[in-house]
Amino acid sequence: MHPKNLHELVTFVPNKAEPVHNWLYYKEGFSRGVVEWAVKEFSLEGPVCDPFCGVGTTLLACKQLSLESIGFDVSPMAVLASEVKTRNYSLGEIEKTLKEFHKMHPREIGKFQNKKIRRLFHAGQLDDIYFFYRKVQEIEDAKIRNFFLLALIDTTGRVANVVKIGGSLRKQRKPHFPVKKLFLGKVKKMLLDLEALKMSETEPKVFEADARMAKLKENSVGSVITSPPYLNKIEYTKVYKMELGLFFQEQETKLRAYIADEATGHAGETKMPVIAKAYFDDMHRVLKNMFHYLVPGGKAIIVVGGGCFPYETVESDDILLEEAEKIGFKKIDKIVARNVQCMRNRTIKVGTVRESVLVLEKPTEN
Ligand SMILES: C[S@@+](CC[C@H](N)C(=O)[O-])C[C@H]1O[C@@H](n2cnc3c(N)ncnc32)[C@H](O)[C@@H]1O
Repeated sequence: MHPKNLHELVTFVPNKAEPVHNWLYYKEGFSRGVVEWAVKEFSLEGPVCDPFCGVGTTLLACKQLSLESIGFDVSPMAVLASEVKTRNYSLGEIEKTLKEFHKMHPREIGKFQNKKIRRLFHAGQLDDIYFFYRKVQEIEDAKIRNFFLLALIDTTGRVANVVKIGGSLRKQRKPHFPVKKLFLGKVKKMLLDLEALKMSETEPKVFEADARMAKLKENSVGSVITSPPYLNKIEYTKVYKMELGLFFQEQETKLRAYIADEATGHAGETKMPVIAKAYFDDMHRVLKNMFHYLVPGGKAIIVVGGGCFPYETVESDDILLEEAEKIGFKKIDKIVARNVQCMRNRTIKVGTVRESVLVLEKPTEN
């Protein structure tokens, strides 16, 4: 049985109302409910691995369910968010640091030179962000430093005159929000969440690593719950280029797609776009890794979306199921969560694609 609102649970929207899960909005994420449902419905055991952990939904939900977990992501911002949301803290230390920050008065200590980024803010906002960024860097305790950094990253996204739409950033003028007030208010809210939420002490392991390469020990993982980048959103990391450029010194070249990053144009011999072929080759490697580290009898729950291209659609769920079966997985189920319309130039309907939950099992004997 799957929940009636599975179509919502495969999105980040329900997480917006969930303490801790909502510390950083991540439009590519799914929600806590999908993890809770999968764990119960398929009697999943830990440790749970999420090789595309994003901002840590699987890891945090597992912590709430007292299950051990491991996560990988190639984005340093996602890894930071996953860590900050799943650490155990001394709340008194955070409060003490917050008091010190309240006494600070932003003054210019240096300007961000990048004119493109500067243009995204009202006068003075970027200087305040930079001031607090420098102060955050001075916090000695790494856990508390990262906690404040996540609050600052969230604040930056809120005050900047841009919105994240589809796979790109669009300019949108917002009111002139005071950075200090928003930033310290965010830290306070995060603190209140920690006080209110009861969680196990288990701290997941989180690595900045590529799911195509990241090898864990054979038969070492109880289950997998994950959602790889969707085929039609391969360039979506562009959406975070402002945050990555400001706080992680990421060059734009490194922000390109991580899955299927070398493919462009159209394949001659087949109708499927080259990028889709490269995507499935990469996903084959990811599935092979999963098969290696899952215990026999272990299940993999994978949320996938189909690909929308200007002249065709590609149903990823069936292709991935085929790949998984070639590797040796047994198909347990394919649950369609929703159908999404694909449009060209926002007006011409190309077709529909499915967003599905695949349930695979590594057989107990080969
Ligand atoms: C669909 S999102 C998963 C979001 C996650 N379920 C959550 O709730 O936050 C896919 C994630 O895969 C990451 N990613 C892309 N290519 C990767 C790769 N080769 N290895 C590991 N992570 C990758 C992206 O940075 C993104 O965070």
